[in-house]
Amino acid sequence: MTVSSLAQNHPQDHSPARVVNSSNEWDPLEEVIVGRLSGGVFPTWQESMRATMPPESWRLFQEKGGRPFPQDLVDAADEELDGLARALEAEGVKVVRPAPADHAGEFATPHWRSRGGLYAAMPRDYLIVVGDTIIESPMSWRCRQFEGDAFRPLLKSYFDRGARWLQAPRPQLTDELFATGGHHDRWAVTEFEPVFDAADFMRFGRDIVVQRSHVTNAFGIRWLQRAVGSAYRVHTVEVNDPHAMHIDATLLPLAPGKLLVNPERYVHNKLFDGWEIRKAPQPALPRDWPMFFCSPWVSMNMLSLDERTVVVERQEEPMIELLTDWGFRCIPVDFRHVYTFGGSFHCVTVDVRRRGGAGQYLDVG
Ligand code: ALA
Repeated sequence: MTVSSLAQNHPQDHSPARVVNSSNEWDPLEEVIVGRLSGGVFPTWQESMRATMPPESWRLFQEKGGRPFPQDLVDAADEELDGLARALEAEGVKVVRPAPADHAGEFATPHWRSRGGLYAAMPRDYLIVVGDTIIESPMSWRCRQFEGDAFRPLLKSYFDRGARWLQAPRPQLTDELFATGGHHDRWAVTEFEPVFDAADFMRFGRDIVVQRSHVTNAFGIRWLQRAVGSAYRVHTVEVNDPHAMHIDATLLPLAPGKLLVNPERYVHNKLFDGWEIRKAPQPALPRDWPMFFCSPWVSMNMLSLDERTVVVERQEEPMIELLTDWGFRCIPVDFRHVYTFGGSFHCVTVDVRRRGGAGQYLDVG
């Protein structure tokens, strides 16, 4: 398949607009959820976090789990989230937000307890839209068990207006799910029950790409494949990321035939034959910037408004240069204070509705 045949293969859906409708990362964006940080608390520590979280955070989470994040950092990040919402609205996109919530309450199941929740800042981790269906993930961090509550008013409203709404089986998150120390499995989660974070999946029309990670197991991937049905095909790809948790700082399709990849993590895959692949430049973030949850590679964690328009962090100048050279219009938005909490524009959003249908873009042989 060539890039030009990919570009032509762009079916238009002429059926009446559906309230939830999105199958890829680049069709014209009409409605989006933007997360909210206020009320967020440090996550309650669990051993599986060691595989993915920066070592400087381990003590912090162990000691401060369930206690509020520093207010000045929260305020700065929330201001940036509001700025993103305004920038999207200025482009004609409808923006919806989760209800404000306090994530500090302790909770327990018969098997374990958590000193608090986390936040509603990163809806991409929790929700995935596939066609007209919005799916709630079975996340493996215990402190995130009730994260979906903040999004329930939105989910109920989408359901009332015709969306399909699915929740994956509630995981028990007992010790059997977690590979313990001394156990040399590659992943921090076992195959005890289905778990995944939605952010380990990337949508390319009827093909969905997923990485195994320390929060997503093969059981979870099989569950999602069966839930979306045979109209979609889920492909597990290899990546070079020993700390794998969320694929959206590893590869990001910006338009049909244009794939941005993390130069340290991308592993060649014939699925992308015919695509032009460009390597993301080194992140511009200063080394001493506080990063509680993730690497500076969230510089490539961007949101496309259509095949030509990308929201990018204002200070990521090498990225802006690369995108401009590649034919994109960049919308610069300040977002470094959000980085501190684990993500950027892709993580903090869920594209609820894009104009278009599920075409075929990958070379599935
Ligand atoms: N977990 C991914 C990273 O840290 C987003 O780069």
